[in-house]
Parts: sequence; structure tokens; C-alpha cells
Amino acid sequence: MKHFLTLFSSLLCASTALAASSLHKRNVFNKVKPTIEKRMASQPFQHPELQKRADHFLTEKTKAFSVNGTGIPEVPFDVGESYAGLLPISDSPDETRKLFFWFFPSTLSQTPEEVVIWLNGGPGCSSLSGFLTENGPFTWMSGTMAPVQNPYSWNNLTNMIWVEQPVGVGYSQGSPNITDEVELATEFRGFWKNFITTFDMQNWGVYVTGESYAGYYVPYIADGFIQANDTEYFNLKGISINDPIIGDDTVQQQVVILPYVEYWNNLMYLNSTFLDQMRERQEFCNYTSYWDTYFKFPPPEGPFPVLPDPFDSDEYTCDMFDNFYGAILEVNPCFNIYHISETCPHPFSQLGIVNTGDYQPPGAQVYFNRTDVQEALHAVVGTNWMQCTDINVFGNGNDSSHASDASVGPANNGVLQRVIEYTNNTIIGSGDLDMLLSTNGTLLAIQNMTWNGMQGLQAYPSTPLYAPYHPEYNGGALAGAGIQGKWSHERGLTFYTAQLAGHELPGYTPGVAYRMLEILLGRVKDFNSTQSFTTQSGNFTGNGPIYRRAG
Ligand SMILES: *[C@@H]1O[C@H](CO)[C@@H](O)[C@H](O)[C@H]1NC(C)=O
Ligand SMILES: *[C@@H]1O[C@H](CO)[C@@H](O)[C@H](O)[C@H]1NC(C)=O
Ligand SMILES: *[C@@H]1O[C@H](CO)[C@@H](O)[C@H](O)[C@H]1NC(C)=O
Ligand SMILES: *[C@@H]1O[C@H](CO)[C@@H](O)[C@H](O)[C@H]1NC(C)=O
Ligand SMILES: *[C@@H]1O[C@H](CO)[C@@H](O)[C@H](O)[C@H]1NC(C)=O
Ligand SMILES: *[C@@H]1O[C@H](CO)[C@@H](O)[C@H](O)[C@H]1NC(C)=O
Ligand SMILES: *[C@@H]1O[C@H](CO)[C@@H](O)[C@H](O)[C@H]1NC(C)=O
Ligand SMILES: *[C@@H]1O[C@H](CO)[C@@H](O)[C@H](O)[C@H]1NC(C)=O
Ligand SMILES: *[C@@H]1O[C@H](CO)[C@@H](O)[C@H](O)[C@H]1NC(C)=O
Ligand SMILES: *[C@@H]1O[C@H](CO)[C@@H](O)[C@H](O)[C@H]1NC(C)=O
Ligand SMILES: *[C@@H]1O[C@H](CO)[C@@H](O)[C@H](O)[C@H]1NC(C)=O
Ligand SMILES: *[C@@H]1O[C@H](CO)[C@@H](O)[C@H](O)[C@H]1NC(C)=O
Repeated sequence: MKHFLTLFSSLLCASTALAASSLHKRNVFNKVKPTIEKRMASQPFQHPELQKRADHFLTEKTKAFSVNGTGIPEVPFDVGESYAGLLPISDSPDETRKLFFWFFPSTLSQTPEEVVIWLNGGPGCSSLSGFLTENGPFTWMSGTMAPVQNPYSWNNLTNMIWVEQPVGVGYSQGSPNITDEVELATEFRGFWKNFITTFDMQNWGVYVTGESYAGYYVPYIADGFIQANDTEYFNLKGISINDPIIGDDTVQQQVVILPYVEYWNNLMYLNSTFLDQMRERQEFCNYTSYWDTYFKFPPPEGPFPVLPDPFDSDEYTCDMFDNFYGAILEVNPCFNIYHISETCPHPFSQLGIVNTGDYQPPGAQVYFNRTDVQEALHAVVGTNWMQCTDINVFGNGNDSSHASDASVGPANNGVLQRVIEYTNNTIIGSGDLDMLLSTNGTLLAIQNMTWNGMQGLQAYPSTPLYAPYHPEYNGGALAGAGIQGKWSHERGLTFYTAQLAGHELPGYTPGVAYRMLEILLGRVKDFNSTQSFTTQSGNFTGNGPIYRRAG
């Protein structure tokens, strides 16, 4: 197979993400400071729960995984109770394949019996990148000096586990030998059963969430949970994916890119000669007519045709995406396809480089590749940790974007439908500043999907999405409030956008992601709601049994 440099070595990752505050930004910041100051809490963020909490999950079975909350390298505060380490993917006593996890119990005093899984994509990228730059209890954003406590951490709302999977990723152990997403789900199920047993979570509700290439992982794993027919271990309650690849990549990424670039050309600044050439190609490749015919709400009835794979032709003429990417990089050499408003310099990332062209200063270390970090987290010391591994995690096969068998292909081919219909609780999000997997491309993929008796969305999502106003706890982790995007809900599927988010949506718009999780967990009705965050009003109306913690 030819190289899929931009498209498929990079479906996820945050290396050039969140920029530091430059002098320029500081001037702007000063102007809005009065408002921000009003919202700043008088005390820095410090979980009240952390002080009085005992270690609720600490048992004979779990103690080997217990992480010292005050002993995380470079982290100058107590991260609270957590557990990390490796668990095998089967019951076989000589199983060599193990997945790595970091589990953070909810910091609420009362949490329903539920647990949320977070997965980054790739394929081959580590979910610890999401942990460190998106939704973890502490974040260390690109370009910032030190980790900070994250008031928008998802374990502020529920029990959270970040898993490095499949075998071959991050700290995981063993040789990858799966061949497709169904086998990936089976592998994950083996791990998950061991996790549930270790932490005594039998029958708890499970939510699967993730990003990017996890547009494959999450629906396939959720469907694997459904197929297992065993709610003692696989009690699926809902899923959420943002900036996901869920459809044919030519349709989801190539057809949509010209309209995307035209919309955002004030940030890309491509010249009109080049744009005119690309418009001609759009016609030549039949993308114009495809767009005009199929990007409709409601969609034209029946399955959308598959277009030729542009990588199958020698000239790559119809690889509009990489043609645009190359031209944009000439104008803005630090352009970030995950977050298109960035310019030079590249902010330094603790996670290391992902794409050719990413920059790392000489002597820089990768946080999770440090011996002291590996020791603190019960990883195998000496593991060569990479944000996205360079080995094929589908050891005996190809990643599914190239699958010839539709039953293991993109999730809009039936898998996602089963998950939506089983849970009626599926949420798909999109950061509008993400060029890799853009909002309209994802919507085009959704329009080719049938669920709960109809095909596609009947109307373009256009209801304003509201994120509550809230106090801020520290200047290193702020979240926007008010109208933040658009949303809609049809037949068990919620779709939403975050206008100022890039690909790593929870990192860029933590307030939107936090509200999304409240909706997924059934604590807030929908994105119209103007009620404050449930963790701030003391208003808690969860469904299901309340897990009362001791102490
Ligand atoms: C946790 O780490 C801190 C800092 O290194 C250390 O002082 C403390 O003794 C450790 N606690 C345990 C229980 O190991
Ligand atoms: C992968 O390896 C394991 C253990 O060696 C074996 O049991 C399993 O059948 C293999 N799976 C595939 C798909 O080859
Ligand atoms: C699921 O399990 C239940 C009981 O464990 C059984 O009655 C039922 O037939 C199973 N369904 C399927 C589809 O396997
Ligand atoms: C996405 O599609 C909507 C509806 O056609 C359109 O209004 C909007 O401009 C498109 N956005 C981009 C970035 O192409
Ligand atoms: C565009 O569609 C026409 C008519 O169906 C077909 O002949 C032509 O080969 C297509 N062009 C490309 C680049 O696939
Ligand atoms: C217009 O953009 C193209 C693609 O980046 C570039 O090759 C060409 O030199 C540009 N033309 C001018 C006049 O800058
Ligand atoms: C991780 O550390 C090892 C040495 O322990 C080094 O050889 C390797 O290049 C490092 N990997 C990355 C991605 O920095
Ligand atoms: C649209 O969906 C049908 C049915 O699932 C599938 O066969 C077809 O490949 C899809 N088309 C595209 C462009 O993904
Ligand atoms: C899901 O919602 C649809 C209506 O959109 C309804 O017909 C169906 O019964 C619901 N399914 C479940 C499992 O609740
Ligand atoms: C959300 O609010 C909009 C008005 O902004 C309204 O049109 C729509 O019906 C509301 N949706 C729901 C589900 O309440
Ligand atoms: C997280 O939880 C703490 C403690 O309950 C609370 O003070 C804080 O406001 C919560 N964060 C958010 C975004 O609600
Ligand atoms: C608490 O919930 C009730 C019922 O949903 C609502 O009326 C009230 O406004 C909420 N209070 C706050 C502070 O959000």
C-alpha cells in the first residue's frame, strides 16, 4: 500500500496542539481580563474530595495497580486515587498480550455504578495523549511549562479509564496479531473482563468514548459488547465519538476538502490561481457532482456510491487533501491540520512528534518515555513509548480504512447502526477547526447511514449549543461558555459541533466536552439546557442505582 502520510499516520494525536500564550495573545487577553477575573474563583482549583477521600477501590486484588497520587513526576499536586498497569487480554495463564490502563475513580461523593472508557485513535496512537492533553485529571498542554489540575477532567463526573489498545500501542505488551476491528473488539473484551473482575464492577453500566480513528474502535467495541450478550461484564449504556472516521475516507475526507478550504481560506490564504486549479480537479474527480447530489438533508434515498480510491492512481490527482495540505504548508509552515488557526512556531509537546514535519527541540524528552514516569505507573520500564507507534497494530492485516470486506469496514456500514439502536444514546461531535476530519465530511458519512427506520439526518444541525457559564479555577485550564456550536438529535443519535475546537475537541473546548459527558450519562437533558454544570449546582439527577461510597 502506498503511503498515507497525512491521512492515516495521523488520525488523532495532539503533538502540535494547543498553543502557548504569545505576547500577541497576551494583549488580547488583557482586554478581556475584567470578565475573566470576575469568573475566576478566589481559591485555586483543589478538589475538596481529594482531601477527605479514602482509597475506595483499594483491595488485595487492586493494590498492585495503586498509583501514588503525590508521586507523579513533574506533577506538583496530589492527583488523587488512581490505578495503572497491565492486564492480559484473555484468561489463559500464559497469555503474553496485555493492555495498559490508567483508572481514575470519580471524585463525586456519589456516582452511579458506571464507568467510562476513553480511546484515542491512530490506528496505533496512545490514549494517554488524550489523558494528558484533553480530558485527564491533570493536563500538560503543548507549549505550557508544567502540568495543571484540570477542573474539566471527566473523572470529575464519573469513573474514568484510559486504555492503550490494541496490543502494540504505548505501554501494552505482546505481539500484535489481530487482522481487523472485530478481532480488535474481541481482544478488548478479554482485557475488559479482567478489569471488571479486578475492580469488582460486575453489572456496572459501561460507556465507550473516543476520537478520530476510534470512530472505528468505539462502535466496533460497543458492538462487541452487545454481541457478547453478557451484561455482567459488558453492560453497554452509550457511546460518544468526536472527530471520528466513520465512513469511506474518499467521501469523508477528499470530497469535502475544497468546500472546507474555501470556507476557511481567510486562515489558509491560498492564492486564487491555485484555488481555481483545485476547483477544476474537483470537477474532474467527480467530487463536485457527488457533493451536490449527496450532501443533502434529508439525503437522497439509498446507498451512496463508492468513489475510486485516489491513492490507487499514480498521479494522486484526486488526492485533494494532500494537495491542499502541501500548499497550505507553503504559506504557513506550522499549519496544524488538527487545529487550523495555528501559526508558527510549533509549540513544544510533551508527547513527542507524530507527523513528518512536527518539530521537537534537541534534547527534548517524551513524558511517558521517562523511566520515572514508567515506574510510577507500573509500566514495563524501558518500553519505547511513542504517542503513535510505528508498527502495524493490525499485525496480520491492514487497518480497516483499507478493508476489502465491508463487514469490517467503516462503522457507517451497519456497526454504528446496531449501537445506536441498542442504546439510543450515541453522541457524535466535531470540532469545526479540524481539517483532518471536518464537520461536513462526518455529516456526509452519517447521511449514508440508516438507523431506527430512516436514512440520515432530516435537517442540517443548526440549534445553538450552550455550555454553561462557570467559575474558573486556574488560568492554565480555562473553558469557554455560552453559545459554543450547533447540535441536533434524531432517533437516538445526537450530533454536535464546537466551533472553536480542533480535532482534539475535549482539549480545545473542555466545557463543551464536559457538558457532552453530562448528557451522555443522562444527567442533563440536552445541549439546549442552560442549567449549570451538575458538579457546580449540587444538582444531581442521575439515572440508575447510586453507588454510595464509604467515607
Ligand atoms: C508518594 O510519593 C511521595 C513523593 O515522592 C513520597 O514522599 C511518598 O512517600 C510516596 N508515598 C508512598 C505511599 O509511597
Ligand atoms: C494471535 O496469537 C495468539 C497467541 O499466540 C493465538 O492464540 C491467536 O490465535 C492469534 N490470533 C490470530 C488472529 O492469529
Ligand atoms: C442472551 O443471554 C440470555 C441469558 O443469558 C439468553 O436467554 C439469550 O438467549 C441470549 N441471547 C442471545 C442472542 O444469545
Ligand atoms: C457545511 O455545510 C453547511 C450546510 O450546507 C454550510 O452552510 C457550511 O458553510 C459548510 N461548512 C464548511 C466549513 O464547509
Ligand atoms: C467521473 O465520472 C465519469 C462518468 O461516470 C467517469 O467516466 C470518469 O472516469 C470519472 N472520473 C474519475 C476521475 O473517476
Ligand atoms: C499559488 O499557490 C501555489 C500552491 O501553493 C504555488 O505553487 C504558487 O507558486 C502560488 N502562486 C503565487 C503567485 O504565489
Ligand atoms: C525513548 O527512550 C529510549 C531510551 O530509553 C530512546 O531510545 C527512544 O528513542 C525514546 N523514544 C522516544 C519516542 O523518544
Ligand atoms: C453507503 O452505505 C452502503 C450500505 O452500508 C455501503 O455499501 C456503501 O459502501 C456506502 N457508501 C459509501 C460511499 O461509503
Ligand atoms: C430507540 O428509539 C426509537 C425511536 O427513535 C424507538 O423506536 C426504539 O424503540 C428505541 N429503542 C430502544 C432500545 O429504546
Ligand atoms: C432547543 O432550542 C431550540 C431553540 O433554540 C428549539 O427550536 C428546539 O426545539 C429545542 N430542542 C429541544 C429538544 O428542546
Ligand atoms: C469538579 O469538581 C469540583 C469538586 O466537586 C468542583 O468544585 C468543580 O467545580 C468541578 N468542575 C466543574 C467543571 O464542574
Ligand atoms: C437544579 O435542578 C432543577 C431541576 O432540574 C432546576 O430547576 C434548577 O434550576 C437547578 N439549579 C441549578 C443551580 O442549576
